[in-house]
Amino acid sequence: MNIAEIAAQLEHNGYIILDKPLPDALSAQLLMRCHDDGSGRFHAASIGRGAEKQQIGSIRGDIINWLDANNRVDRAYLAWMEELRLGLNAALFLGLFDFECHYAIYGAGTGYAKHSDVLRGKRNRILSTILYLNEDWQPGDGGELVLFDPTGESVLATVTPTFGKMVIFLSESFPHEVLTSHTTRRSIAGWFRASGS
Ligand code: OGA
Ligand code: MN
Repeated sequence: MNIAEIAAQLEHNGYIILDKPLPDALSAQLLMRCHDDGSGRFHAASIGRGAEKQQIGSIRGDIINWLDANNRVDRAYLAWMEELRLGLNAALFLGLFDFECHYAIYGAGTGYAKHSDVLRGKRNRILSTILYLNEDWQPGDGGELVLFDPTGESVLATVTPTFGKMVIFLSESFPHEVLTSHTTRRSIAGWFRASGS
């Protein structure tokens, strides 16, 4: 699918699920980077910002590592997302200013309770992106992303986190949840942001 089609679906639905937008070889290299080798690259994710920042494993159980522009593999993903950023800006005038993303590893028994990616008082996350990196995902492994409609009442999509799949959605419009994963679940979560605030 080309960027114009992605833009058209985002404009129409506010979200899109892409089967395998990246070359498999790049996803495979990203998967190799999404492992905790004990060096301290990964740390427990937290919720909120500043004084409201907290770590509550019962809400969010992943460990994360922000991508590093000095790493060749991370740079390849950032470059691919930069192409997407420019294409979406040209098509949709979203004013996407930059992109930030982190690897995320959910251990067995963890998930992420229903939430919005836009923090109170911080409205600069425009589009959320998740790339899934699970090669042997089986039905019953859990860890699905559940995307709700803007009221948070009804489920729009339940997404299995299979290798190479990417989900993109308007950060402010769609509450979402990661169901408890019964096995290790790997992904890259990212946000296209507007400048300011
Ligand atoms: C997040 C998030 C969803 C997923 O990191 O904010 O909602 O499917 N991730 O990993
Ligand atoms: Mn989220």
